[in-house]
Amino acid sequence: MFPKGKVILSGMQPSGALHLGNWLGALKNWVNLQQDNHCFFTIVDLHAITIPYEPKELPQRVLELAADFLAAGIDPEKSVLFVQSHVPEHVELAWLFNTITPLGELERMTQFKDKASEHREAQNAGLLNYPILMAADILLYHPDLVPVGEDQTQHVEFTRTLARKFNSTFGEYFTEPKVYEAQVPRVMSLLEPAKKMSKSYGPNHCIFLSDEPETIRKKIAKAVTDDGGTADGRISGGRNLLQLFKVLSDDKALKQQLDDQYRVGELKYSEFKPLLAEAIIKTLEPIRKKRQELLSKPKQVEKTLLSGRDSARVIAAKTLSDVKERMGLA
Ligand code: ADP
Ligand code: TRP
Repeated sequence: MFPKGKVILSGMQPSGALHLGNWLGALKNWVNLQQDNHCFFTIVDLHAITIPYEPKELPQRVLELAADFLAAGIDPEKSVLFVQSHVPEHVELAWLFNTITPLGELERMTQFKDKASEHREAQNAGLLNYPILMAADILLYHPDLVPVGEDQTQHVEFTRTLARKFNSTFGEYFTEPKVYEAQVPRVMSLLEPAKKMSKSYGPNHCIFLSDEPETIRKKIAKAVTDDGGTADGRISGGRNLLQLFKVLSDDKALKQQLDDQYRVGELKYSEFKPLLAEAIIKTLEPIRKKRQELLSKPKQVEKTLLSGRDSARVIAAKTLSDVKERMGLA
């Protein structure tokens, strides 16, 4: 069906500004994958509303995530970039999948257990059914591979289970997609390096793609260097910073100087940190500028998303119609 490589699909929630962890751990890899594969990238707004949120802010979050994707190099000429709620087939397929999902499968999902205890006052059926919608997101496009972080692999396994269940009940149709595990660095929090960099811990734990150079310099200057330690496999703050430098800097001589033990060697942290800050700034500045430019022309970004929607719908509608036919609903 497609002229090049594998079919690949992934999604991200519009739940706030993207940080260096999201970029190194996901987005940068997506940009590479689109060169030789047929990629679908979706902004999953219907997943984002399963926890308390501000409806007035949601459209801007979607727009900003789209701008982040485009600024980081997702090319709408090469990949299909679209918003989940623009393609109603996702919700319809999710309902059909509801009817073949054993309840026990949903209740054992780790993310459900975590989120349900975190949002006790706002538990809703959407939180439980979240993986069914994700299975629909995926299976509508028949991908070979789904690049996701470790926390989402259980949902891709669940998707494979649903594909098998559908096939055994209604006849062979879906192929089971595989998790694509990229060799990507796990970026740790700047202030509590035992935890991963995450926007949920607060802005000073993260470097955002939208951070101005001066903000980046300040955040790196305040980053913890000696916390954690390596005893139980956790990395220290210092090692986290060195790892970032090795990934981001093109200064080969200095990288060589930083020995394999991930020590700054002859350098003091007070000398090393400004070098790291500049390496981060050099990497992120073009993305930040492009992002700003895109956000000054929101109509153009919206147009790109609508064109992505049109391409996605052609495929989604065909899958849904095949499924309905097999389920006796055509
Ligand atoms: P957050 O934890 O900030 O809410 P998400 O869970 O929305 O981030 O993650 C979106 C994508 O970015 C996922 O593919 C995830 O694996 C990746 N990611 C998130 N945080 C990191 C990190 N600190 N290091 C590497 N990858 C990350
Ligand atoms: N649940 C994923 C997350 O929180 C986002 C997501 C939704 C997704 N649908 C998807 C990821 C389909 C990959 C494929 O990160």
